[in-house]
Amino acid sequence: MVWRCTPSHAVPGIAPGDVRDRQPPILGDRRRAPSRQGDRVSSRHFGQGRFALRAVVMARHGGPEVLEAAERHEPRPGAAEVLVRVEASGVNFIDTYHRSGYYPTEVPFVPGVEGVGAVLEVGGDITTVAVGDRVGWVSVLGSYAERLAVPIERIVPVPEDVTSEVAAASLLQGVTGHYLTNDTYPVRPGDNVLVHAAAGGMGLLLTQLVKLKGGRVIGTVSTPEKEKLALEAGADEVIRYEDFATEVRRLTDGEGVAVVYDGVGRATFDGSLASLRRRGVLAQYGQASGPVPPFDLKRLADSGSLYLTRPALAHHMVDRDELVRRTTDILELVAAGNLAVHIGGRYPLSDAADAHRDLEARRTTGKLLLLP
Ligand SMILES: NC(=O)c1ccc[n+]([C@@H]2O[C@H](COP(=O)([O-])OP(=O)(O)OC[C@H]3O[C@@H](n4cnc5c(N)ncnc54)[C@H](OP(=O)(O)O)[C@@H]3O)[C@@H](O)[C@H]2O)c1
Repeated sequence: MVWRCTPSHAVPGIAPGDVRDRQPPILGDRRRAPSRQGDRVSSRHFGQGRFALRAVVMARHGGPEVLEAAERHEPRPGAAEVLVRVEASGVNFIDTYHRSGYYPTEVPFVPGVEGVGAVLEVGGDITTVAVGDRVGWVSVLGSYAERLAVPIERIVPVPEDVTSEVAAASLLQGVTGHYLTNDTYPVRPGDNVLVHAAAGGMGLLLTQLVKLKGGRVIGTVSTPEKEKLALEAGADEVIRYEDFATEVRRLTDGEGVAVVYDGVGRATFDGSLASLRRRGVLAQYGQASGPVPPFDLKRLADSGSLYLTRPALAHHMVDRDELVRRTTDILELVAAGNLAVHIGGRYPLSDAADAHRDLEARRTTGKLLLLP
């Protein structure tokens, strides 16, 4: 794609509550008429007016069964938006939090927050991308769809030698792995690092990013298949969850690890604290097994002056420059063959519910994609 300049705008990210109601209406829903904002866009539109498109629509919060394929009006891009034809959208655990209502969203809405596709139309204010460019985006609700309008501040360039599927599988989790290993706890050569769910989408990327920085990875997994994948990604030791803190002590000569990257949450929280060395860092960045209950801060002092943080993506891509810097770093590693991306499942849009079921049932490895 052509990338002409990089205007800097605020990027609110995907913190809980950051869900802007800017989605086009479901066909036949007369309460929510299409925005006229699109009247200001340039006339570079393919076709004869607005089309229907397929999307995954949630009419209410709930289990995977609330994800249903439906037709919607194609959105008109605003002056600072681009209309994209989606080639692949990423499935992330956060999508299950939006679906269940754990992270509040208004219904009806189209879930999904990242993807890669081709630009079909650009808003009148946009000079940095052109029709036909291949672009990615992070943190844009509505990505489980054939087409969507994406604010220019969330658009990122995709290198020619990275396929759309691989790019879609690298963006959100790549940015997360980038900030966790560079900012939340900057991994140093020789650090012992515990990565939970090491064969998951986040886990496989984190394992490789820690290894690239010279750390030693101890990964947890639930099955032999996942163990094999984590080892292939470079994990030095792969263990099961049962009494993992004792095993971590054994593998670190009693010292404990410098940092735990924990996206599992409730089920692993106590063991993660017990796995840390003195003044170690628990980066508790997700809750695949459920939220961590409130706890007594004094435990941090009693366990060795530990650090505990609950980082969110939104605060690590606070403007467009930061988003582009992190995604560029990650996609360059991918393009150079230094970061392998494992796509563990591809689903048609109509099977989004199955993707969520598989993810929540721990049946998946690596990244899941929806292919419109
Ligand atoms: N804070 C942020 O910026 C940020 C950004 C992206 C993702 N995240 C978080 O990162 C975590 C991983 O996300 P992901 O999309 O990469 O998912 P994932 O790791 O591919 O899937 C979740 C994995 O967690 C493990 N797990 C352990 N107990 C589980 C349980 N009770 N239910 C479900 N899974 C369980 C499973 O691996 P085993 O079978 O091996 O245990 C499962 O495969 C999530 O908590 C997500 O919210 C946070």
